[in-house]
Amino acid sequence: MGWRRDIRAGVLALLALMMSAVPWMILAAAWSNSRSRPAAAAAMEAADGPYVALTFDDGPRLDTTPVLLDGLARRGVHATFFVIGERVEPGRDILKRMVDEGHQIGLHTYSHKMLTGLSADEIYREINDLRDALTGLLGDLDFMLRPPYGKVNSTVCAMAKTPIILWSVDPEDWSDHDTARQVALITNQVQDGDIILLHDIYASSVETALQVVDQLMARGFRFVTVEELFALRGVQPEDGQTYRRVPPDS
Ligand code: NI
Repeated sequence: MGWRRDIRAGVLALLALMMSAVPWMILAAAWSNSRSRPAAAAAMEAADGPYVALTFDDGPRLDTTPVLLDGLARRGVHATFFVIGERVEPGRDILKRMVDEGHQIGLHTYSHKMLTGLSADEIYREINDLRDALTGLLGDLDFMLRPPYGKVNSTVCAMAKTPIILWSVDPEDWSDHDTARQVALITNQVQDGDIILLHDIYASSVETALQVVDQLMARGFRFVTVEELFALRGVQPEDGQTYRRVPPDS
């Protein structure tokens, strides 16, 4: 009878070995899936759309920006924030949170000066003092530039050392704080590849942004950062070049 017990023990041992291997097999399958995914999936996703980039200037602001981040997180949406140097120190935690949650951060100059009225030296300082502050806080990321008031000249382009991001949809949210008007304007005008300008320093603009996200997502739009929009369109943005939108045929 001894050999029967030995066989039963052997079968049980083999079964135990197979069972313990199952989780590893599942893990290995998942791993090889995620490894082979990027190229094909990225091409598939690029064919989808339409895509738009929400951008916010002049922040971060301690009372309004976190409300926006909460709303974007609930909707799984990434945006781009062009921040001001003077708001970096008080907004450190918000800026770190933005990066953690997949948002893009860009430069809106140190003290929100109209760059076209400045000397080359002053332009350099307005851009690089902010770049240094952000690099000290967040590490060496690619910080694109949005010049205040969208004003550029050849000196600004030469001093930027990064792509210059303007916009194609502007509800002038600072002018009336009227969420209903702003939402209607944006949702009527918006097209694939647009870059929308808002300001996260107004509660009304935060509300506008979240309503726009809800309405456009229901119409099939997807919200991406400016960097992601370039990548989806296969466009390599160039330093000192201005961009207003990144349409499908660009
Ligand atoms: Ni501004």
